[in-house]
Amino acid sequence: MASGNGSLAKAVIEATHSGELSAHVLAVLTDQPDAEVVSKCAALAIPIITHPLEQDREAWNEELFFITESLNPMLVVSAGFMRILSPDYVSTYKVINSHPSLLPKFPGAHAVRDALDAKESITGTSIHWVDAGMDTGEVITSCEVPILEGDSEELLHERIKIVERGLIVATISQVLDLLETADE
Ligand code: GAR
Repeated sequence: MASGNGSLAKAVIEATHSGELSAHVLAVLTDQPDAEVVSKCAALAIPIITHPLEQDREAWNEELFFITESLNPMLVVSAGFMRILSPDYVSTYKVINSHPSLLPKFPGAHAVRDALDAKESITGTSIHWVDAGMDTGEVITSCEVPILEGDSEELLHERIKIVERGLIVATISQVLDLLETADE
């Protein structure tokens, strides 16, 4: 699932193509039909499902359920997806999320800006299980990124995303191994 540029989604898809990640991406779902992630998926020949937010949030949640049910994924990966998933959804599916801070510090939609505003010297990225809260699920992996003098939100976020792309691929691999073992 992705809402924006889709560089994390692209890194995951490419890792499956190169064999670095032993997994098959069934589809990418976005709530933003005009987002960059759509053309990235098209270029990589990955099915993209657009599911724009409707006024009726309940109906949107329900449709998301049906879409996911039809794909029957082993794992749902929120990679830059800027929507909160319903408690029902996250208790039905195994969902992980990539977040641009060292959780539990700076949850929410402005994690990079919040770390800069707090005058931190180190921030980073965390991959966590998604529960019903906002970025509150158990952290699986994380990686530090130093904040440099003169960093803007954009510069810092780009440096975090370089680390994030590697971490999400490694973490998906780790989680799939875990789920496969649990299945045996
Ligand atoms: C990533 O930094 C991801 O952690 C963040 O959006 C970016 C997506 O980058 N997600 C959140 O902030 C969710 N709270 P991308 O569009 O280039 O893949």
